[in-house]
Amino acid sequence: MKNHLNVIHSAHLAFKSLFLTSLLICASSCKESKKELITEVVNNNTISIDLAKQIDDCELQLEVIVPKLTDLTKHPRFIENYQTEWQQVDNDELIWTSGFYPGILWYAYNVTGNEKWKDEAIKRTEVFEDYKNITEHHDIGFMMFPAYGKGFEIGDKKEYKDILITSANSLATRFNPNVGAIKSWSNKMHPRWKQHITIIDNMLNLELLFWAAKNGGDKKLYDIAVKHAETTMKNHFRPDYTSWHVLEYDSISGVVLNRHTKQGYADDSRWSRGQAWGVYGYTMVYKETKDKKFLDFAQKLTDKYLSLLPDDMVPCWDFDVANNPKEEKDASAAAVVASALIDLSTFVEKKEDKERYYNAALKMLKSLGSDKYSGVGKTDSFLLHSTGAKSLGWEIDVALIYADYYYIEALSRLKKLQD
Ligand code: GLY
Repeated sequence: MKNHLNVIHSAHLAFKSLFLTSLLICASSCKESKKELITEVVNNNTISIDLAKQIDDCELQLEVIVPKLTDLTKHPRFIENYQTEWQQVDNDELIWTSGFYPGILWYAYNVTGNEKWKDEAIKRTEVFEDYKNITEHHDIGFMMFPAYGKGFEIGDKKEYKDILITSANSLATRFNPNVGAIKSWSNKMHPRWKQHITIIDNMLNLELLFWAAKNGGDKKLYDIAVKHAETTMKNHFRPDYTSWHVLEYDSISGVVLNRHTKQGYADDSRWSRGQAWGVYGYTMVYKETKDKKFLDFAQKLTDKYLSLLPDDMVPCWDFDVANNPKEEKDASAAAVVASALIDLSTFVEKKEDKERYYNAALKMLKSLGSDKYSGVGKTDSFLLHSTGAKSLGWEIDVALIYADYYYIEALSRLKKLQD
């Protein structure tokens, strides 16, 4: 494994030093959408992604999916074995993935301008307004921001503002000042649920707090988000900038009682999506705070993550089982990181850092859009080969709705950069 990592690391150095030039070719129009072929020439190798085709592929899939998903009381979550349609969860299960499908529709509207995706997005968003009052777990950010947050931002649905502020206030009730962090879980899914459990995934929920604080909500929401990010930065990472999944804090003294995993291979292993949440989370916290310590940390997490990747840029579900070729991939982690890196490439100052992150994102997106990972013509998702929780025996080598969400978000961010 060490040799393997050294090879990848050397390749990165070569890649960095031999970067030659970048070129953007806007090719001719097709239908009404602009066809964009993005070509980067790196070390004499061409990374060429056909952004317009990858967007068209998403739209193609939605043409198939949307007419099938007519029950507004259910939300698509995964597709097992790629033989069937989306498996759905009931609205009243309050599952963390419920907001991603409306989020996908908002981004589809964003990248295509096609009003029918907006109409569908509104329909799929407005069914779970009651979620704004959820206080029993931390996932309200994952649930409300892709749906209502993107509706506000992309669909100009200003009337969603109060719903988002209420949602942020609900999330803030879970902040424990003794710990300096939001409590992620409190149901009996964890054997020591009475203590304060914070998981790395929780970083993503901070975006809802930042949004509310700058859109008329209480300024304390900003302080809570920053404090949570600082506490997590202090306790949740190993010296090599890899992350544990689950931290258990004493809810009164705030002392870390133990560090372990729920969805990774082992307590000390590096669960890939956990690393991805860290990369995305700290990039977003920098975007919201402009505090350089978060940018520096986001870069350290990213550089570590990139050093661990295989050639196709899509990690195995846990980096510590990646030596076994039979272990499944997790395309969702790749999609999350690709989206984050497009943003990160615009935040860093040094040209070589910009190029490194941007090119890594391009390579990830090219790989995800390739026949190996694309669901087009095979199943009802944008992407194949994600893994939800192999350690629990769930969602192993499946399509996942959040993989599709972060993938289309990444395409949208890339398109915005090009535009
Ligand atoms: N937030 C849950 C997961 O990443 O599976």
